[in-house]
Amino acid sequence: MKLSGSTILITGGTSGIGLELAIQLYKRQNTVLITGRDPHKLQEVQRQFPDMHTYQSDVSDPAAIVSLYQRVTHDFPDLNVLVNNAGEMRMLSLQGQHGLQDIGHEIAINLLGPVRMVEQFLPFLTTKRQAAIINMSSGLAFVPLASAPIYCATKAAIHSYTQSLRIQLHGTPVKVFELAPPPTSTPLMDNFGSDALNNQSSGVMNVDKMVRVALRGLEKDTEEIRPGVSNVLKVMSRLAPTLMLRQMNRPVARELAKIPTLPFLTEHAHT
Ligand SMILES: NC(=O)c1ccc[n+]([C@@H]2O[C@H](COP(=O)([O-])OP(=O)(O)OC[C@H]3O[C@@H](n4cnc5c(N)ncnc54)[C@H](OP(=O)(O)O)[C@@H]3O)[C@@H](O)[C@H]2O)c1
Repeated sequence: MKLSGSTILITGGTSGIGLELAIQLYKRQNTVLITGRDPHKLQEVQRQFPDMHTYQSDVSDPAAIVSLYQRVTHDFPDLNVLVNNAGEMRMLSLQGQHGLQDIGHEIAINLLGPVRMVEQFLPFLTTKRQAAIINMSSGLAFVPLASAPIYCATKAAIHSYTQSLRIQLHGTPVKVFELAPPPTSTPLMDNFGSDALNNQSSGVMNVDKMVRVALRGLEKDTEEIRPGVSNVLKVMSRLAPTLMLRQMNRPVARELAKIPTLPFLTEHAHT
């Protein structure tokens, strides 16, 4: 994929990986548009990078996606790249205490968000000579971390969805990429604060480096880009799936065992 001269829309571009992608792509002579929910964060990006274009929009809201589409395609008819980056990650214990609305929060953002963005933007993208969709999954798409169960399920689903999308769009001008970041130093990671992830700290990548590796992958047309430990997770999840799942979740089992309302997990953690 050519990484200059494009018009690129990045969801969740006010922070972390999305912001770093926006900066590095902007430096490579692309027109960069970013979205986010928080108007203060959007204003701050606009202040620091006056040539970037900001749109307030929530990917979990279908009406907001329609409105974003109308504004963006009106303002930037040359739009040819969509980066589905916006995402949230929560630690959740699955004890039936969250309520039916809240339990689906990450599904609405991390899974339905990209699926709906593609549904809305794809007919427009297929009219371009060269176009691309880049979906953000995670190393946790390959091996789940049980303390973030809904998040990991959304990322595994995005991995699967992206494979299908790529096959369906074969032979069209729209290339489909998956970026599966490893643990990367961003506000999402800071907020997570789990022993389980911190114990994997040797695999934590600096956001600037992670994005540089990702852009190299895109330049080489690598369909599934797995920087750092994400590649290890994918390979090991195929070679030794049970061992990998157990290894990854050893600290999680100890954390969960501290919750007194889950006696069966307490038992499990001591085995
Ligand atoms: N950091 C990691 O270790 C890691 C590893 C693997 C994959 N990833 C994935 O990489 C992506 C970016 O993560 P990050 O670490 O950069 O997170 P981050 O620093 O927390 O940034 C998330 C961005 O998404 C936006 N966002 C969140 N919910 C949104 C919504 N409903 N609609 C529109 N924008 C929304 C946020 O802005 P507002 O809050 O203002 O909306 C922010 O700009 C996510 O998909 C994440 O799952 C991250």
